Amino acid sequence: MFAKRTNWNLTPNRLSEALEAHRAAGKPLLDLTVSNPTECGFEYDSAAILDALSNPAALSYEPNPNGLESARRAVAGYYSDRGENVSIEDIFLTTSTSEAYSYVFRALCDPGDELLIPSPSYPLFDFLADIQDVSLVRYPLLYDHGWQIDFHSLERAITPRTRGVIVVNPNNPTGNFVKSAEMAKLNEICSARGLAIMADEVFLDFALDGDRPVSFAANRGAPTFTLSGLSKICGLPQMKAAWLIVSGPQTWKSQALARLEVIADTYLSVNAPVQLAIPRFLEQRHSFQEQVMARAQRNLAELDRQLAAHKAVSRLEVEGGWCAVLRVPATHSDEDLAIELLTTHGVSVHPGHFYGFHSKGYLVAALLAHETKFSTCVARLMAFLDQSH
Ligand SMILES: Cc1ncc(COP(=O)(O)O)c(C=O)c1O
Repeated sequence: MFAKRTNWNLTPNRLSEALEAHRAAGKPLLDLTVSNPTECGFEYDSAAILDALSNPAALSYEPNPNGLESARRAVAGYYSDRGENVSIEDIFLTTSTSEAYSYVFRALCDPGDELLIPSPSYPLFDFLADIQDVSLVRYPLLYDHGWQIDFHSLERAITPRTRGVIVVNPNNPTGNFVKSAEMAKLNEICSARGLAIMADEVFLDFALDGDRPVSFAANRGAPTFTLSGLSKICGLPQMKAAWLIVSGPQTWKSQALARLEVIADTYLSVNAPVQLAIPRFLEQRHSFQEQVMARAQRNLAELDRQLAAHKAVSRLEVEGGWCAVLRVPATHSDEDLAIELLTTHGVSVHPGHFYGFHSKGYLVAALLAHETKFSTCVARLMAFLDQSH
């Protein structure tokens, strides 16, 4: 009775079972996977946020497939603050980056068409692709004192069914930004082969070394869709507000905008109170981002301090985002390590394979936890790794 695309294997994996058992037993959990910013003790201007949601203009309905102009002006303002020129005509508001992806997948792909995605990366794409009948083909990121796109493999992964290349800038969890030379190479490959670039920039503002990375939002060198939203930029995932920006060669762009307008007009999914609040929500980003960056930097420094005494464990270089990747001895599968760490020391981390790391020996730690908690988690993790050798 159901569509084959919904034949998912929904049995929980061993790690989620172990987590559930841990919680059910009422045992304390030291969580190194927390990525929900509303649960990390950051200070929000609650009065300003709630006040922004009670704009009387929300009492009238002004349907617009692109979203309310005032909200799009604020989004364009966010880019102009970064030195990028984005026209409000090229912006579509969506309820989430995930929804923005689905609009793009629908606009680009017939059933069975292919999109290239980075590996390792955030495990968001599989379900999105299944739901839209799109096939995902992975292209590797290579690590050698920093991450880079393996362009040789990327080009070899292109088939007549490929419609586009997804880049995550910076990538989650590896934290590497797309460099100018990589952007130029992507433009060259995609424009020569009629492919689109989909750039996920939800973590763009979280550069750990202070450099201002380039955005794809004003990229004209190839057909480009840039996705971002308030869930990370302002730490407001519950507000369900994101956007999609179209840029690239003019003729292509006009066609893309016309098609996306029909898709967006069919749903008109973002509600009025949130759209009206977007300008004020975006103002909140400065204080939120300062808090996140200060915490991530302190946690990273603490991690490095503890790692200095443990030669068998190291952390990979990270340029931005909310995570650090740890290289640990590959004695067991990373899932077994994560389960044992949970059951013996009460610490939860993500095993690398969750993000598509191919070989054993990678664990991913989020950097958002409160400093004291983070330090305890890392100390327990190190004690565990010492014991298991
Ligand atoms: C790389 C990346 N893109 C998109 C998302 C989801 O963003 P949204 O809440 O706007 O759907 C996440 C969530 O963690 C993410 O890590």
